[in-house]
Amino acid sequence: MDIETFFKKQNFKNQLKILTCGSVDDGKSTLIGRLLFDSKSIYSDQLSQTKFESEKYGTQGKEIDLALLIDGLQAEREQGITIDVAYRYFETDKCKFIIADTPGHQEYTRNMATGASNSDVGIILIDSTKGILDQTKRHTFILSLLEVNHVVIAINKMDLVNYDKNVYDEIIKSFEIISKNFNFNSKKYIPLSALVGDNVFTKSDNMPWYKNETLISTLEKFEVSKSYIDEKFSMPVQWVNRSSSDFRGYSGTISSGKINVNDEITVVPSGEKAKIKKILTPDGNSDSSFENQAVTISLDKEIDISRGDLITSDLKNIKIADQFSAHIIWMHKDAMLPERNYIFRLINSYVSGKITKLEHKININSYEKIPAKSLELNDIGYCKIALSKSTFFKSYSNNNQLGSFVIIDQFNNLTVGAGMIDYELRRSTNISWHEMTIDKKKRSIMNSQKPCALWFTGLSGSGKSTIANILEQKLHRLNKRTYLLDGDNVRHGLNKDLGFTDADRVENIRRVAEVSKLMTDAGLITLVSFISPFKSERKMARDLFEKDEFLEIFVDTPLQECEKRDPKGLYKKARSGKLKNFTGIDSDYETPISPEIKLQTLSKNPEELADEILNYMKKNNII
Ligand code: ADX
Repeated sequence: MDIETFFKKQNFKNQLKILTCGSVDDGKSTLIGRLLFDSKSIYSDQLSQTKFESEKYGTQGKEIDLALLIDGLQAEREQGITIDVAYRYFETDKCKFIIADTPGHQEYTRNMATGASNSDVGIILIDSTKGILDQTKRHTFILSLLEVNHVVIAINKMDLVNYDKNVYDEIIKSFEIISKNFNFNSKKYIPLSALVGDNVFTKSDNMPWYKNETLISTLEKFEVSKSYIDEKFSMPVQWVNRSSSDFRGYSGTISSGKINVNDEITVVPSGEKAKIKKILTPDGNSDSSFENQAVTISLDKEIDISRGDLITSDLKNIKIADQFSAHIIWMHKDAMLPERNYIFRLINSYVSGKITKLEHKININSYEKIPAKSLELNDIGYCKIALSKSTFFKSYSNNNQLGSFVIIDQFNNLTVGAGMIDYELRRSTNISWHEMTIDKKKRSIMNSQKPCALWFTGLSGSGKSTIANILEQKLHRLNKRTYLLDGDNVRHGLNKDLGFTDADRVENIRRVAEVSKLMTDAGLITLVSFISPFKSERKMARDLFEKDEFLEIFVDTPLQECEKRDPKGLYKKARSGKLKNFTGIDSDYETPISPEIKLQTLSKNPEELADEILNYMKKNNII
């Protein structure tokens, strides 16, 4: 089947994917409602419910309360809990439209980014009574970042400003200044009222001064469906289909290009080559298939392919690396901290990794690049990322799907960020691990001990260092070789440059975790006494060690007691506001959930508590 037949078969009309964005109360829901209503795309049951409610509560003289209608649509979407973006469909005689409908609350940016990545046109809604807001600027930046290159600036609620041309002109003037920062391929301004319907489907008599087209005719004229059909073939494998003993097929959606029976393909990452034997589509066997089609393909020979692999004929643009640079949009109230571990979902695979360097973030008012140590909710930054293993991707500008990723919190599986890959970094490929002849095992035998890390965590003043100090003496008397790394001491040297912001604490723990790993490798029993307030970094430390080599010891002294003891007078300073970011006061301490040892310091003295650890070590054959 050639492309034309394919399109005919699909009853192909121009199809446009649209995203509406702007600020929260700008009337986005009403506009979507209006588009669905005027195009007669609303299901009759939704309509009768809305009519009923309108009759019950009154429509304030309007034909139908669109907000009520859209509330109904919203409620329906929210029931699908995990769905961030609902897609609404409507069509006119000339064109089919898919509009990404994202919830309008504060997590709007997050949902917008998810919805925008495959949109052709962005409608930027501006409330004419408010003008351009921070969110307008942020969303315009994101549209450009996501390469949504066509924008319609819908200046809404014109009925509330008496259809005043001056208001419209002023907003255009301000938006022109903003848009100098971007290279949108097209930009159209339309004054409208989604509520009344002015200039949405019908030309408004209220604004005779506006000579251009309505929103819908403007949209109908775009012919921009992003296409990678001229590119070479790529398909991420979503499922390996072994429906019978003699059949093995690979299912997925073609992300770019075209494939024919007998074409040669390569599997990434294995690099193995084969030829296409069969292409199965929902309509049966086919000789060829195109971008966006869901297919199952079989090959002329058996090779090992798993879910998450890529079948491609495009070896030039596919990159395989464990490091890359990318733009990211942060979407969670807990800040992004460089060096913290997150899960990265690229294409179909999940890989752990971290942001190693935040190069800059964007000042959303001036669009300037500014230095930053972390990214807060809705911030946009440019950074370097290192994954725990190599994976394949394209740059975002090459292919949206193969060049974007999502960042997931490793504890609660929430999506915390989204990113667009710029280019791969190759630095790590020149460094290899050198196996030495004298290894940890040999050093341990020489020391006659089993090396391990004893990781003390707890509030300042909880007694960590006191107990660790006594324990080290006891181990010393047992002829054990030890070293004690203490927060206050290490911060005098190796970590002298670090303060107490969340980002600095992450780096503090990263460095000391690496040092304690080296010391354990040197055959020592390493005692580490740091507040280490975040579970994420305690896990990062634990993951550096072998099983049974890492003991987390939670020195569980209540804040009230630490504050009463206040050995260094720091709680007093923190309470009086002279010391900022103090753990337990204005900086978090995340209580360990399942430490190996939990010490209750109120009922026992440090000597007894050190013995408790010693007994645990004896019982578990560590000493
Ligand atoms: S951590 O949070 O990064 O693990 P670390 O254990 O290195 O902290 O250092 C904690 C010690 O620094 C405390 O025992 C205390 O003496 C001192 N300190 C100074 N300022 C602070 C602060 N803002 N928060 C916590 N401890 C502080």
